[in-house]
Amino acid sequence: MDGFDYRDVVEDVYATAAQTPQPSLCCTTTPIWQLPGLDVPQAMLERNYGCGTTIHPRDLVNVERALYVGVGAGMEALQLSYFLRRKGAVVALDKVPAMLETARGLLDLAASRNPWFEPSFVDLREGDALSLPVQSESIDVAAQNCLFNIFKREHLARALAEVYRVLEPGGRFVLSDPVAERPMPSRLADDARLRAECLSGALTLEEYLEAIVAAGFGTIEVRARRPYRVLDKKRYRLDENLLLESIEAVAIKDPVPDDGPCIFTGRSVIYVGEDDQFDDGKGHLMSRDMPLGVCDKTAGALERLGRDDLVITASTWHYAGDGCC
Ligand SMILES: C[S@@+](CC[C@H](N)C(=O)[O-])C[C@H]1O[C@@H](n2cnc3c(N)ncnc32)[C@H](O)[C@@H]1O
Repeated sequence: MDGFDYRDVVEDVYATAAQTPQPSLCCTTTPIWQLPGLDVPQAMLERNYGCGTTIHPRDLVNVERALYVGVGAGMEALQLSYFLRRKGAVVALDKVPAMLETARGLLDLAASRNPWFEPSFVDLREGDALSLPVQSESIDVAAQNCLFNIFKREHLARALAEVYRVLEPGGRFVLSDPVAERPMPSRLADDARLRAECLSGALTLEEYLEAIVAAGFGTIEVRARRPYRVLDKKRYRLDENLLLESIEAVAIKDPVPDDGPCIFTGRSVIYVGEDDQFDDGKGHLMSRDMPLGVCDKTAGALERLGRDDLVITASTWHYAGDGCC
């Protein structure tokens, strides 16, 4: 079709979803954060189109300015404001004017129910993830929930490059998105409506991590990985069911080391030898019997030592940031 761009369908889908809640759209299968003194309006909850959470208090310590890309109805912008509580501290943007209007109205409603919150805490902007209206190196923490999976490869690369550009060195990019257990058949990947519904744009986790590293992020932590949807073989005319999982991850803007990125997936090493400690000579000091979280690269290197006094565990996909690499 001449001039057809799947992003037009995406914008139509979310213009409708701004006005009328779409229960089947992207809804998270995990409970929404309940935070003391935070009352999230019901209409915001009904328009929660994320697939996990991007709100982690430990990312928000000493944060001056956060960016939220694809604000939707504003729930996570409100949750970010809960931690930052300053005028303009959360820059939140969306490409769909109807969604911005909904977010604005619901943030006003939230202000009437939450004495600590003022709508001016969120700087709502119309903008495109592919060309962020934000100064370079001006953001400490950027977040997006269930938007980047919709983008085709070239657009994903551009969106990731934009997030990288606006982050301060050492800044964090927190994300949640679906991933697919195997590559998406092109018949489904090319279906603009399924893409918009966060069902057929998903890459495999490996492909997604590669795209994040290609944008320049040197460290990635996978915090959660859980079942999200099944594209069942009957409805989607597949040879086998295709499981989608929702991941939560954080990518850190630090240089990619010469020997490759540090990707933490919840692997640990436990030294069980005769000494008090084992030092691998590469910055990893293991106290006897104490698990040390390590990135996959380090876990692989330690495995290759072939020592029977090192117990190296499999990925849990729930890394909580306790390691070194
Ligand atoms: C799946 S929804 C997620 C909304 C929100 N993050 C949440 O968790 O509820 C995707 C959001 O991205 C917005 N969007 C779509 N294309 C965009 C683009 N190119 N740039 C910025 N926002 C976009 C949509 O309008 C919608 O609000």
